[in-house]
Amino acid sequence: MKYAIITGVSRGLGESVAKRMLDQGVAVLGLSRSKNKELLRYSEDIGVPFYPFYVDISNHEALEDALAKINALVFKQTTEHIYLINNAATVNPIDRAEKHVIEAIKKHVDTNLTAPMITTSALLSQATKAHAQVIVMNITSGAANRSTYGWSLYGSTKAGLNRYTETVALETAERDERHKVVLFDPSIMDTNMQGSIRETNESQFKAVDTFKAYKDNDQLRDTDVVAKVIVELLADEQGLKNGETYSIHDYMD
Ligand SMILES: NC(=O)c1ccc[n+]([C@@H]2O[C@H](COP(=O)([O-])OP(=O)(O)OC[C@H]3O[C@@H](n4cnc5c(N)ncnc54)[C@H](OP(=O)(O)O)[C@@H]3O)[C@@H](O)[C@H]2O)c1
Repeated sequence: MKYAIITGVSRGLGESVAKRMLDQGVAVLGLSRSKNKELLRYSEDIGVPFYPFYVDISNHEALEDALAKINALVFKQTTEHIYLINNAATVNPIDRAEKHVIEAIKKHVDTNLTAPMITTSALLSQATKAHAQVIVMNITSGAANRSTYGWSLYGSTKAGLNRYTETVALETAERDERHKVVLFDPSIMDTNMQGSIRETNESQFKAVDTFKAYKDNDQLRDTDVVAKVIVELLADEQGLKNGETYSIHDYMD
């Protein structure tokens, strides 16, 4: 059996990737705070297991508890592959840095950076003990590579995630382990995240009109299209390159 542990399956890209994985016969263990009834129904219909874990990944004790249950489920002798897709993230708060309050800064960093570090570390540690292979994909953003007015937190946590991912990939390569750790940039997609970006004003986010135009001009990609590319990439066992940053732009016209 193959397993995919995916964070943020209640909507958006995570939901699409979960669905696509189920289509491929991969059992999905999905983490999010809210329920996705559609995924539960879909998994029942096609007879491929979906295990939901209702957890706020910024609460690290709750995340650890969920990971203990997940490890018990996925590390079995019959397990072929374990995928970990760190997809859940928040773009909020969007504003100038001096407007950010401590709690919001903490919550943002705990969600976007610390949680994927915890899941990656826990899965690699367990896999090494169990002599199993783990393939980790961390979902990044172009915002990691440039400074965007109002996105000091989002740009920083995605840049941190990039450095973290590349460093872990270097470690696994040097120890000649079978694990692969990669980044994927999905670019702009039609999700709730884009909705909350459009709700800001220009004093918080200078480029708000550009993002409103992306929606008006139908430039936001469908998450199902992006998910198809992600799942095909992960299924290409030999072709997937440890430490690589993949971008949706390389697969679309
Ligand atoms: N949308 C874009 O244009 C775009 C562009 C570049 C990169 N990305 C990246 O693509 C990924 C997916 O984004 P999206 O647009 O699909 O976002 P989205 O529509 O806002 O969905 C985010 C998902 O993450 C989950 N999540 C957020 N905070 C969480 C928490 N504290 N604990 C547990 N789950 C949490 C949400 O579930 P609950 O609320 O139910 O917990 C939801 O399922 C993100 O990493 C994002 O940075 C998106």
